[in-house]
Amino acid sequence: MLEKPQAYDKLTASNVMSGINSYGEELSEFDISQNKHRHFIGGKWSEIGQLQYDFLLQQGLQPHHQLLDIGCGCLRGGLHFINYLEVNRYYGLDVNASLIKAAWHEVKLANLEPKNPHLIVSDKFEIDRFQQQFDFMLSVSVFTHLPMNIIIRCLSEVQKNLTPQGKYYSTFFLAPTSAHTAQIAHQPGGVVTNYDRDPFHYSFDEMSFMASVAGLKINLIGEWNHSRNQQMLEFFKCDNLRAD
Ligand SMILES: C[S@@+](CC[C@H](N)C(=O)[O-])C[C@H]1O[C@@H](n2cnc3c(N)ncnc32)[C@H](O)[C@@H]1O
Repeated sequence: MLEKPQAYDKLTASNVMSGINSYGEELSEFDISQNKHRHFIGGKWSEIGQLQYDFLLQQGLQPHHQLLDIGCGCLRGGLHFINYLEVNRYYGLDVNASLIKAAWHEVKLANLEPKNPHLIVSDKFEIDRFQQQFDFMLSVSVFTHLPMNIIIRCLSEVQKNLTPQGKYYSTFFLAPTSAHTAQIAHQPGGVVTNYDRDPFHYSFDEMSFMASVAGLKINLIGEWNHSRNQQMLEFFKCDNLRAD
């Protein structure tokens, strides 16, 4: 009979995302030691990590800014940001405790502990716990896995914790119309998205509605060279309207 490796101790059986997306599953210590977390969050570790770093720098991220990575996972992008930012400037939040454990594993591997990143597990987007207002916030491949009511909760918490000129960038799968109940096969990448189950798609009007009930405005940035056709959105506070 095959023996389980000694370190194969499940951290917890599940979290609140069970039944909604695959991030209800928690990885074991053994999984993390085998770097399984890098695939669990979608793979493309170097490519999508670098992409999100380059994108935020184009948007004006500077080393002294405070950055919150919502749904940071095991720091595919986070490692780039922690390396770039000054000490105590990178904050990450995720619902999956094992991915935060894997995040610390990655921080140690990259010798980035001196940068003192702040990482928490939260199932309600409790950004308040950081007691910090943020210049930039980011979510890559997070709304793609979430239903509308959970996105609205996220945006409501974002609204309370953005600086007056702050920006929140989030990716999503774009649907051509609201209530688009048919599946969509996205190219490039071939991901098939759904109206009411993971992975989710939304129209721009649906995203605008979610932003408005949370007290935020929204711009569609759209294309940002994501290899699975996720599009980029920019959220900002209503009193931070652009002149154009
Ligand atoms: C595809 S991964 C992306 C992770 C990271 N943003 C990156 O680019 O590598 C999606 C992440 O969203 C997190 N997530 C899913 N639902 C969440 C929720 N309700 N609250 C916070 N994080 C959530 C997952 O645990 C996972 O880490």
